[in-house]
Amino acid sequence: MEFPFDINQLFSERISVMDQTLIAGRKSAGRPDLQAHIATVIDELGRASAKAQQLTAPITSASKLQSQRHQLYLLKDGESSGGRGVVVGFLKVGYKKLFLLDRQGVHIEAEPLCVLDFYIAENLQRNGYGLELFDFMLQHKNLEPVLMAYDRPSPKLLSFLAKHYCLTQSVPQVNNFVVFEGFFLNRTVVQ
Ligand code: ACO
Repeated sequence: MEFPFDINQLFSERISVMDQTLIAGRKSAGRPDLQAHIATVIDELGRASAKAQQLTAPITSASKLQSQRHQLYLLKDGESSGGRGVVVGFLKVGYKKLFLLDRQGVHIEAEPLCVLDFYIAENLQRNGYGLELFDFMLQHKNLEPVLMAYDRPSPKLLSFLAKHYCLTQSVPQVNNFVVFEGFFLNRTVVQ
């Protein structure tokens, strides 16, 4: 995904972690001009992800990120586009309080880290970029994918989780979240 400005100037690392502040490293702190470009990138990514998932409206935008306690991991390829860099994709995660059903149908209250949005540019999918981004997030959060919940996962994400993390056995829920066998180990039951 190319933009009419220098991606390498906005994002110094291959993977940037952003939160409510929309700051992507030292360079963008205290630079409203760079933060406006960062907002443009996030809005564009959110729109592309919604389109890919056939959603009526984006679930990721700069203003949403500013108002919610979520984290967005953004992957760039710094070499492409004549050295200006391209944006490859993003992964958005956040903690949510959920009421879930375990295998026995018992209600469990939990606040797991959830995958909320995930997108790799169409022409770059199936090249391992999604795995690179997801593995980075797991290390950053020091977490196993089985302990996470997945908000309305697309068929591509379900296939991705089965292939890379052997997550195939989901436990049926009454909401849009998907969790897998192993999620409920050592969790407390709501009385
Ligand atoms: N069809 C089916 N499975 C796919 C596809 C596809 N077009 N693309 C990726 N996958 C899955 C497959 O398991 C694939 O393995 P395979 O090629 O051996 O079949 C595996 O992902 C490839 O792994 P990566 O290359 O690391 O994944 P990628 O870089 O493509 O990123 C992602 C995966 C983010 C799901 C990407 O395909 C994408 O952006 N899809 C469109 C948007 C989307 O569906 N996002 C998930 C929304 S749901 C949510 O976020 C909670």
